[in-house]
Amino acid sequence: MRIKKAVITAAGWGTRFLPVTKSQPKEMLPLLNKPIIQYSVEEAIACGIDLVVIITSMGKRAIEDYFDHHFELESMLERKGETRLLEEVRRSSNMVDIGYIRQKEQLGLGHAVLTAKNMVGNEPFFLMLPDDLFENRELVLKEMMRIYENYQGSVVAVKRVAEDEVNRYGIIEYKQVADRIFKVIDLVEKPRSEDAPSDLAIMGRYLLPPEIFGAIQETSPGRNGEIQLTDALRRLLKQRPLYAYEFEGERWDAGTLPGWLEVTIALALQEPEIAPRLRKYLHKISSETASAV
Ligand code: G1P
Repeated sequence: MRIKKAVITAAGWGTRFLPVTKSQPKEMLPLLNKPIIQYSVEEAIACGIDLVVIITSMGKRAIEDYFDHHFELESMLERKGETRLLEEVRRSSNMVDIGYIRQKEQLGLGHAVLTAKNMVGNEPFFLMLPDDLFENRELVLKEMMRIYENYQGSVVAVKRVAEDEVNRYGIIEYKQVADRIFKVIDLVEKPRSEDAPSDLAIMGRYLLPPEIFGAIQETSPGRNGEIQLTDALRRLLKQRPLYAYEFEGERWDAGTLPGWLEVTIALALQEPEIAPRLRKYLHKISSETASAV
């Protein structure tokens, strides 16, 4: 079985990045010289996706423009013989078929996913939250696909978090079935640490069956008064099993300022043209800070 479609949510306000997000979608903030959302699109393509559905909202037109052709810019670069830049610019508009759908009211993640119902149709699909970025980018979705096939159930990516962080995530109650694979018994959105069933938190990648749409339709507003995807998954548990994959390697949350800074540095350290200079600079400021203490 091959998963052909990936849904990427990009409809949120980006309040944690205000004021820059006042006139600029959060998903278009740069991680080095590419916008945050491009990393998810590339991750989906690496996994063989044919159609990416991006859920947007008011004020997000820059995303559509970014993945479109820019004739004036391209012909200027061509005239100047800037071949490498031209390739980069063209690449962003030729990557994959992208469909857009608008979430007209901000009623929660579950509600956002429901807007993609007709574009997804009656087949399983990946859901990707673009703020979450992974060190082993291509591996996570591929492993999830394997689990979907082997166990015939929906799959979420999970990672262990500290006790004081469980209230930021969907947390699962589980039974381990194999190395790094868990059968989900229950799940709860953003519990208080004393109520959390475990320390395994859902991290922005889901492999979902089309039945999720019906489950969302039946889900009432939950945490923060929003229609939560976690609650819909909980409802779906009655019909279909759900598995969790504990991926290896780092995960960053580019949706917070510290997370965005960390992933920027981690990515820069992978770039041969930038890494030596950055490493020297980080060393210099860390020894300066140490001697100041
Ligand atoms: C969403 C989900 C949550 C999940 C998290 C991962 O929360 O509702 O279950 O753990 O993404 O990043 P949000 O970060 O949108 O508040």
